Amino acid sequence: MVTPLFRPPAAPLGSSPGTVAAPAVAFHRCGYSYGRSAGAVEALRDVTLTVGAGEFVAVIGPSGCGKSTLLRLAADVLAPSSGTVEVLGGPPAQARRQRRFSVAFQDPVLLPWRTVLQNVELPLEIAGRSPGHRREMAQQMINLVGLTGFERALPGQLSGGMRQRASIARALTLQPALLLMDEPFGALDELTRDRLNQELLDVWQRTAAAVLFITHSIEEAVYLSDRVMVLTRRPGTVAATLPIDLPRPRTLYVKRTAAAFEWTARARLALEAASR
Ligand SMILES: Nc1ncnc2c1ncn2[C@@H]1O[C@H](COP(=O)(O)OP(=O)(O)O)[C@@H](O)[C@H]1O
Ligand SMILES: [Mg+2]
Repeated sequence: MVTPLFRPPAAPLGSSPGTVAAPAVAFHRCGYSYGRSAGAVEALRDVTLTVGAGEFVAVIGPSGCGKSTLLRLAADVLAPSSGTVEVLGGPPAQARRQRRFSVAFQDPVLLPWRTVLQNVELPLEIAGRSPGHRREMAQQMINLVGLTGFERALPGQLSGGMRQRASIARALTLQPALLLMDEPFGALDELTRDRLNQELLDVWQRTAAAVLFITHSIEEAVYLSDRVMVLTRRPGTVAATLPIDLPRPRTLYVKRTAAAFEWTARARLALEAASR
């Protein structure tokens, strides 16, 4: 069994009986429109979706259905036009100020002039942590994502998969209780993506952070998640919820079982129905 490296303080798994940790994210009847009146684009409508403390939830849906919009609502980049969003039991803005979540995008956006170590240290630097703590925590995260030995490399010297690893290490340095990920492996080749899926699961199990993971890969969604949410085409709304009960820890063996194929087929059917 893997040992937890850290636990999100406000969402203690296995806390004393009777205490229920707040969900990591709770969208309640959320709608969002870009622009106003005649020219408005309604991206989301009436979305109710919860990511429990420590839970891994993937969202799939047709292109342009509002997946990234959903993530932006949780990340406090956008405010809902209707309904409510709560992150870790409070307003998203509060969770952002307290640096309790981090975001990873398809494009790893590392600073090209800073080394891997300096990039991973950046959130700690901005948060005003001491140089000693910064170094120690950044090194721990670099080890966790398998980049040991590349601390002094510049982003330009790394492969796409390694850059994404560095970006995940950076997202983890402040020990967030929630990771918001928008197609983080979408630009990688299939084998690299498989490997990073595996590594992300290892990291997730060690950190106990909740994950809201956007993807358009059905297989990836099934393999990683406790639940897969399927959105309809725009305006996106929840069309189906698939409780993926495949055993954990998930290995490549689990991926090749009949149960995994069945979940993938079900998710595909749900996505096809939602895309009509
Ligand atoms: N800044 C914006 N202004 C106007 N429309 C937008 C803007 N951003 C996204 N949209 C539209 O909102 C819809 C949902 O976008 P998005 O959430 O990015 O979809 P997805 O991530 O599922 O592909 C799309 O139709 C897109 O064109
Ligand atoms: Mg998107």
